[in-house]
Amino acid sequence: MKHVKILSLILVFALAIGAFASCGGKTTKKLVMGTNASFPPYEYVEGNEIVGIDAEIAQAVAEKLGMALEIKDMEFDSLIPAVANGSIDIALAGMTVTDERKESVNFSDSYATGVQVIIVKEDSDIASPDDLAGKKIGVQTGTTGDIYITKEYGQENVSQYSNGSLAVQALLNGQVDCVVIDNEPAKNYVAQNAGLKILETEYTTENYAAAIAKNNTELLEKFNKALAELTAEGKIAEIIEKYIPSDGEAVTPEPDTSESAPVETSETEAVETSESVPAESSETTAETTSEEATETTAA
Ligand code: ARG
Repeated sequence: MKHVKILSLILVFALAIGAFASCGGKTTKKLVMGTNASFPPYEYVEGNEIVGIDAEIAQAVAEKLGMALEIKDMEFDSLIPAVANGSIDIALAGMTVTDERKESVNFSDSYATGVQVIIVKEDSDIASPDDLAGKKIGVQTGTTGDIYITKEYGQENVSQYSNGSLAVQALLNGQVDCVVIDNEPAKNYVAQNAGLKILETEYTTENYAAAIAKNNTELLEKFNKALAELTAEGKIAEIIEKYIPSDGEAVTPEPDTSESAPVETSETEAVETSESVPAESSETTAETTSEEATETTAA
């Protein structure tokens, strides 16, 4: 009888420790990040791991906070609701800060920038955004590209896909005439699939930041502090340089499930201002496979 009592005491104690360690707030030691891992070089799957700029920034932040990082791959348009309802702690997904999203979540300080561009087939009659009227435009559901294009050209001209690489497949198959997506993933898709090129748009530079629940200001502050330290230490620039190198030797993901032959990397060197490098960094020389180098300015 006595043994049973001691045993159950131990059990209660063990359960209490378990509850203490796993419940939210200050005691949590795990940082659960949500992303949509079909957005190279920010996030993509390599082997069975999610890699990319966002994954590495989150890992570096988690290390600073003494937390273990867990990454969940989900639909892009589920990320904001998941942050808001607490099923993930943070979303890092090349996510643009918008006023509409700010109604549901808080955003961290920005760590990179992007611009929406148009991907077309090399022989396309679409030469600029002026030619988009009446065309079938592919987008990733719920992205800023989707929002701008739907507003400007109407729902009937927009085909939504659950990720960028499916939208690009639809372009290759002739189901859409172009794809509107962020510039860095666009460069990756064009490098992986023959016969595509990138056009510039007039859409302005967007700031990428991490989304965190409105009621979790503690994590927001910790994240921003860690991000500032990592920026000061040169770690953020180092991560970005690894995936968007100034010498053009990009860490490109495995080619898509695409049937088309992988494109030869072009030898053309184009000077561009790398839009993903933090503001203080200077001009970089990047190799581009696009005929027209997309020029964008760091925020
Ligand atoms: N920057 C765009 C947005 O925030 C697209 C981001 C898509 N990200 C992704 N991981 N699929 O709407």
